[in-house]
Amino acid sequence: MSSYLPLNSDNVDQLRAQFPALQRSVNGQLPLYLDGPGGTQLPDNVIDAFSTYLKNGNSNLGGKFAVSQETVDLVGDARRHAAAMLGAAPEEIFFGANMTSVTFSFSRALSQQWQEGDEVIVTQADHGANRSSWIMAAKDRGVTVHYLPVKDHTGALDLDALDSLLNEKTQLVAVTGASNITGTITDLSIVVAKSHAVGAKVFVDAVHLLPHQLVDVKALDVDFLAGSAYKFYGPHLGFLYGKKAYLSTITPYKVEPAPSAAPNCWETGTLNFEALSAFVAAVEYLASLGEGDNLRTCLASSYDNIHQYETTLSAYFLDKLKAVENVQLYGVESVEGRTATFALRFGERDPSEIATALGKQQIYVWSGHLYADKLTDAFGVTDKGGILRVGLMHYNTREEIDRFFSALEIIL
Ligand SMILES: Cc1ncc(COP(=O)(O)O)c(C=O)c1O
Repeated sequence: MSSYLPLNSDNVDQLRAQFPALQRSVNGQLPLYLDGPGGTQLPDNVIDAFSTYLKNGNSNLGGKFAVSQETVDLVGDARRHAAAMLGAAPEEIFFGANMTSVTFSFSRALSQQWQEGDEVIVTQADHGANRSSWIMAAKDRGVTVHYLPVKDHTGALDLDALDSLLNEKTQLVAVTGASNITGTITDLSIVVAKSHAVGAKVFVDAVHLLPHQLVDVKALDVDFLAGSAYKFYGPHLGFLYGKKAYLSTITPYKVEPAPSAAPNCWETGTLNFEALSAFVAAVEYLASLGEGDNLRTCLASSYDNIHQYETTLSAYFLDKLKAVENVQLYGVESVEGRTATFALRFGERDPSEIATALGKQQIYVWSGHLYADKLTDAFGVTDKGGILRVGLMHYNTREEIDRFFSALEIIL
């Protein structure tokens, strides 16, 4: 399975060759994708997997014929791949359209267990997908919502403040694994220990964490965790991990004749089978960057490889940033405790104006609040256009960082 190559600046081009979008010229220029946190590019094996499924025969589940059985096998394979990625069991995984949709439907079901007067905790750092879902469910059930604040401009959650928010009425703590704006990583072990001490469950939004860090749901003891495959070189597909004991006892909203056992009962309607085929390929692509004797150990080695290389990119980026006048970085200043995602402002300049100017040179970054609007509120910048986000992935290079800074210098 593995074509293991410890990634570095000299060999990253071999890896980039697997990504057709990175080779394409747009308006006469090579596009510079610094928008990975908004969605990554896909390698050939993932792109091919969509059509392989469809070419081999397209069928729903449960038919008394071979091609239907192939689809059943594919769904099982996808569950096993997601489980290997998260350190979970296959029956603890279900799939859906995207992270937002699976979280909304899950919140509606889980909240049926809440009583009026109960409490939930959401955070200032989270993307709306892991806030609005719980806030709306809480409203329906007469449940009080508390906000866990961030400490400062790093966007790190104030985990000491959890102590005063948690109590025996707390049903759930919904928290991000890493911020899609600042890249700041949450110490989930602290959140889980404090929450479980009062009997509260923990739901983790791992969308921004999963492209950068291996997760082990069992070691972390998180109760629920959601991810999105288009953020790690895969298809537009969401998935949710839930502890077996919970997924099989919470009743989902579903049509009556559909399966009633978990995890299938959580997958309402027909799954996107071609996306599941691409999902399997995406996990295999990730695993191919490492070595080991099974999928999980390959993934652990791959994530090490990715982490080492992305850390060198982060160090290079942070170093170059020092030379930029009047720049403010929101997030941690070191390479530790962060992903290679950087939130920037340049005095009172509107980030969208800078993103537009970069876009004209085929340099793709993002600007605004990026759906983490309570975080840009906390930074006091939402109504000033939010931040400019530069997100580096393992297919980015030092030369690309140079190109970004040269373009930025002229724009500023
Ligand atoms: C941190 C985070 N959580 C959740 C989401 C929502 O994911 P999806 O687009 O799969 O609904 C995003 C999307 O950008 C995100 O960055």
